[in-house]
Amino acid sequence: MLENILKEKNLPPFKSSEEMLDILLKEEYGYMPPKPEGITYKSIENYIPNFCAGKAISRKVEITSQFSKKEFTFPIYVTIPKKEGKHPFFICINFRDSVPDRYIPVEEIVDNGFAVLSFCYKDVTDDNNDFTNGLAGELYENGKRGASDPGKIAMWAWAAQRVMDYAETLDCLDFECSIVCGHSRLGKTALLTAATDERFKYAYSNNSGCSGAAISRGKQGERIEDICKNFPYWFCENYKKYVNNEYNMPFDQHYLVASIAPRYVYIASADEDKWADPDSEMLTCYAVSGIYEKYRKKGFVCEDRLPQVNDMFHDGCVGYHLRAGLHYFSREDWLKIIKFVKKHSCI
Ligand code: GCU
Repeated sequence: MLENILKEKNLPPFKSSEEMLDILLKEEYGYMPPKPEGITYKSIENYIPNFCAGKAISRKVEITSQFSKKEFTFPIYVTIPKKEGKHPFFICINFRDSVPDRYIPVEEIVDNGFAVLSFCYKDVTDDNNDFTNGLAGELYENGKRGASDPGKIAMWAWAAQRVMDYAETLDCLDFECSIVCGHSRLGKTALLTAATDERFKYAYSNNSGCSGAAISRGKQGERIEDICKNFPYWFCENYKKYVNNEYNMPFDQHYLVASIAPRYVYIASADEDKWADPDSEMLTCYAVSGIYEKYRKKGFVCEDRLPQVNDMFHDGCVGYHLRAGLHYFSREDWLKIIKFVKKHSCI
């Protein structure tokens, strides 16, 4: 059944990872901002005293990236279990700088043995059309950008990569088990982060929908027309060419996930989130499955039908679940991604 649904969409065939990523950057997200020439970190230890009943350390770190004549600083929040050993860890791109946060149940994450490093996306650059503030202000003269210059999603993804730079200075983390995660616009961002940086071994996208995990051809709910009207600044200028023109795109969102293969990808949907379109999100998992076979790995292992509430497909390198309820990064979502990582990394 899924095979027939996909056939009708006539998706562009896979190319090499480099080619697929290049098309996505040129036509959709814009090319990533350059890596900094230098980077420094300033830590405030014991940021939240007695955090997680004393089971975890809490630290605030200011990351400063240096470019030729400019520099850019943003804060992150680090929570690491005190227990001995190397900890698997999440880099979580969040809507707020609060820790814990309604989208990050930190104590439960720590009790499961994971560290979490999070930041507020707006501390990187505002979520609006203003390209003169934060990182955008450092990159663009006069706030003007060219057709393939980065949109805001690429900038938030760049920041998650700087958090990984910082993580690499710590010897208590397990780099075989690094996960970038985010919800909705930040789920789109999490996928782009992993696609452009191999240091992330897992990417977790929560309810990311249009221009994230969902196939655009024939998508229900939000379409490229809507997203380009309401949030044009998330993307590069070229993306507007594809408004109501999905079937002529030289790419679709399966290229984004395929650029992460053979690393792990997990896509989560919510049943009442019709705007994101769970069916189109799961179809992406199905569409990329074959890529993993090239690497002699299991791709997506599922029932041959569209998703149903409480489905959870964890057997292959591509994971998926459909949770009951609304558009939200819930505790249930966290527990499911944690379960998936534990299963595949044998924790
Ligand atoms: C809007 C937008 C979505 C996005 C969501 C969010 O609903 O249309 O594409 O994912 O905001 O980030 O919460």
